[in-house]
Amino acid sequence: MSTLVITDLHVSVETPEGTKEILRGVDLTIDSGHVHAIMGPNGSGKSTLAYSIAGHPKYTITSGTVTLDGEDVLEMSVDERAKAGIFLAMQYPVEVPGVSVSNFLRTAKTAIDGEAPKLRTWVKDVKSSMADLRMDSSFAERNVNEGFSGGEKKRHEILQMELLQPKIAILDETDSGLDVDALRIVSEGVNRVKDKTNVGVLLITHYTRILNYITPDFVHVFVDGRVAEQGGPELAERLEAEGYDRYLTKA
Ligand SMILES: Nc1ncnc2c1ncn2[C@@H]1O[C@H](COP(=O)(O)OP(=O)(O)OP(=O)(O)O)[C@@H](O)[C@H]1O
Ligand SMILES: [Mg+2]
Repeated sequence: MSTLVITDLHVSVETPEGTKEILRGVDLTIDSGHVHAIMGPNGSGKSTLAYSIAGHPKYTITSGTVTLDGEDVLEMSVDERAKAGIFLAMQYPVEVPGVSVSNFLRTAKTAIDGEAPKLRTWVKDVKSSMADLRMDSSFAERNVNEGFSGGEKKRHEILQMELLQPKIAILDETDSGLDVDALRIVSEGVNRVKDKTNVGVLLITHYTRILNYITPDFVHVFVDGRVAEQGGPELAERLEAEGYDRYLTKA
């Protein structure tokens, strides 16, 4: 059982025009085995929240706390956060030229576990996860994300999550750009990992479609750098029907 607690988080970035505050007091608690969906308009700070938790150097935490099982996450390096069990599937996964998927996964697994995975079970695990995600085995020898289609990149993110077995997974628009079959396959992957490892999931999305496959326990509406409203799955339906006007005119 793990808990990620975000309290009154304020985050800013340096821009040519000066310091810009993006997160303006985020409160959020994620327990193992729960799915939290975050929905909200473009530019409201959802990816900034994801990056800030993962430790991206561009984002400066000006106040607030993030803890994982009581440990101060903000004090940790990016590597330490990953080792502690925080996983981020980025909205725009980056290419890693010269590094094959197979090498990348093994290196990441070794770094996170502090020891190399046992070769026989590891090869089997990779193969079976790739098969579950309908990824051709030839992907293992391709360079990470190089020439991957949008959907292939997203499957690769889920493959990483499945093999690295984090405590808390942040999935930033893992559903965007997926065709209907891929959406189902990726969703099943998330559900499978959740059933197997009891991971807590922060699912950033614009669409209720994925929430038909991955049922959220909580839905948070993110507006202008903070949580404007929260509720259960029914809140997602309401957002789909009504949009965000209600929140924006209040501001
Ligand atoms: N490195 C940066 N430099 C300047 N501005 C930034 C930077 N990162 C984020 N921002 C700004 O912060 C705001 C929030 O961006 P963010 O990517 O977190 O939004 P988002 O909610 O994920 O949007 P989307 O739904 O479009 O993915 C935007 O106005 C964005 O331009
Ligand atoms: Mg984003």
